[in-house]
Amino acid sequence: MSARDVGAAVAAIGAKTKASPKIAVILGSGLGSLATEITAATRIPYPEIPGFERSTAPGHAGELVVGRLQGKDVAVMNGRFHYYEGYEPQAITFPVRVLRAWGVETLIVTNASGGLNPSFKAGDLMVMNDHINFMGANPLRGPNDEKLGPRFPDMVGTYTEELRALAHQVDPDLREGVYVAVAGPNFETPAELRMLRGFGADAVGMSTVPEVLVARHMRMRILAISTITDMATGIPGQIEHVTAEGVLEVANKAGRRLADVIKGVVAKL
Ligand code: HPA
Repeated sequence: MSARDVGAAVAAIGAKTKASPKIAVILGSGLGSLATEITAATRIPYPEIPGFERSTAPGHAGELVVGRLQGKDVAVMNGRFHYYEGYEPQAITFPVRVLRAWGVETLIVTNASGGLNPSFKAGDLMVMNDHINFMGANPLRGPNDEKLGPRFPDMVGTYTEELRALAHQVDPDLREGVYVAVAGPNFETPAELRMLRGFGADAVGMSTVPEVLVARHMRMRILAISTITDMATGIPGQIEHVTAEGVLEVANKAGRRLADVIKGVVAKL
């Protein structure tokens, strides 16, 4: 386990806000628009929370926003940490440990990803119904704290069925599928993309799986929604060059719709 102190982080947050949300949202690349809709907001920059790292990825603000959304207390992580930034898996997922210890029970996670399923198109939103951890890293490695969760967590049903159904009710045009996580930071080669599609993945990205593993370890309810920012098919003749700027541009556009989905889900929780 890391030397990071969950209790100290909870105390630091508790010193800034009296709210105690049951719902938290982690916002991915370019998807920060939801954070502007939180009312009565307390904004806590990550450097003010002991044990939180710095957000260095483009499109990641690096603040915890605590306030009200659709009449409910929520905590929004505006910006996350990635393995490709050089952080250890336990560092990436420390905020999830902190959110749970603070009382959060439902975690909504978002990300930007490349579409592998040929029926998808850039700008689509995909509800994750499963994942493949192809990152080569796992935040649950190392000594297990049985008070938090089991040594060998069951992963069947990780993406809470009831929450997925709610998301589809709010926006009937949502796609659904399997997300495969890679370490990055390079985008995949065409050969890697064909392999990942062959694995059964519908979208590929560089985040989310570490946070989901830790949330699942602690038996949290999980909803994850991926914005397909580019089509990463690897199919000869359909090969697109992917750029970080292009990813952010599509994510920013889709961010409004994603924010509406999350608002609709939160309203029904
Ligand atoms: N691959 C991996 N991560 C991504 C992509 C991609 O094509 N698009 C957005 N994030």
